[in-house]
Amino acid sequence: MTEKHVKDLLMEHFMNPRNVGDMAEADGVGDVGNPLCGDIVRLFIKVKGNKVEKATFKTFGCRAAIATSSLLTEMLPGKTIDDALKITEKDMLNRLGDLPPLKRHCGKLAELALQAALGDYFAKSRGDNHLSEEVARRIRDPREWSAAIAEEDAATVQPL
Ligand code: FES
Repeated sequence: MTEKHVKDLLMEHFMNPRNVGDMAEADGVGDVGNPLCGDIVRLFIKVKGNKVEKATFKTFGCRAAIATSSLLTEMLPGKTIDDALKITEKDMLNRLGDLPPLKRHCGKLAELALQAALGDYFAKSRGDNHLSEEVARRIRDPREWSAAIAEEDAATVQPL
């Protein structure tokens, strides 16, 4: 996949983000913010049976954060809860054809927003808030973000 393709797909999702907005009666809502850059993502999921039926988002952040949030809402419908839990920033970056090192951590926001939304779903539907607490810990833990942006230290490319 060429760098031009990556930029085209990234810009396509940034200029025409899918599934933007609040969701009435969402089954799970995940809020996360990157304390290092200030970007925030709110993800809403609707669950039917054991599958994610629909996802929407609101992101205040960089192009990569908006693009990965948009992409995630396209990846989720039809996924079982178990499969949704396995989605990581790397899955999103693989679809985007990877991003320059300086922007790779931006997908971490979407990943954590998804886990927070699933944690909220578990807490509401099963009374189990273990995942919510784990995600809250990870969001608060500066090491999570440090790990996500560790590659930046050695990066020599320009951000998109
Ligand atoms: Fe903050 Fe992209 S620069 S998430």
